[in-house]
Amino acid sequence: MNNHLIAPSILAADFANLQRDIELINSSEADWIHVDIMDGVFVPNISFGFPVMKAVKKHAKKPLDVHLMIVEPDRYLKEFADAGASGITVHYEVCPNLHRTVQYIKELGCRASVALNPHTPVALLEDIIADLDQVLIMSVNPGFGGQKFIEHTYKKLKDIKELSNKHNPKLFIEVDGGVDEYNIIKLVEAGANVLVAGNSVFSAADPSAAIAYLKNPGKPKL
Ligand code: DX5
Ligand code: ZN
Repeated sequence: MNNHLIAPSILAADFANLQRDIELINSSEADWIHVDIMDGVFVPNISFGFPVMKAVKKHAKKPLDVHLMIVEPDRYLKEFADAGASGITVHYEVCPNLHRTVQYIKELGCRASVALNPHTPVALLEDIIADLDQVLIMSVNPGFGGQKFIEHTYKKLKDIKELSNKHNPKLFIEVDGGVDEYNIIKLVEAGANVLVAGNSVFSAADPSAAIAYLKNPGKPKL
């Protein structure tokens, strides 16, 4: 079981040692670097903005998977693409013209991804799923790292996997929040193929080993 991708979230990194932590991800088995942008309006927390993201880009050797937890994301999409995003995720809950937003992300040359909060039904994506490169299923309420995983996520992953089989088999199905060594196998079995992990990586005694385990779950730990 290692066809899935691992995207460590730098929200849980040590911001005073960001270069060190990016280099740690560079030399690990991680596939992408997950970048959480929070505006203090859509979510009750502020993370960081363009200057920090550009600093991350300078050192990153893996694609930046940018998760926008902001209202009116359309205003900033170009700037995030210019700052080096390889994929951009917007939240369904803040995009009244989602089809237009998705086309714009693609025009900018980025992977177009839509996130669903825990309360937002998967079925709402039925008429747009064929246009998407990725769906992000939130398994915690967005805004903070280190929260408890919401069990209902498994059901949502199965539902989105079914929709994806029907309309868009190449879809990346990403799960974000509370992913760890204990639930990763069940999440992959439910249909997730991109796993974001913040605290389970950066709070580990050996973050590279934690990433290696998430990439190859079930194998004996290093
Ligand atoms: C939460 C963020 C997540 C967060 C995950 O709003 O979108 O990406 O960094 O952190 P953990 O893995 O600690 O739940
Ligand atoms: Zn995220």
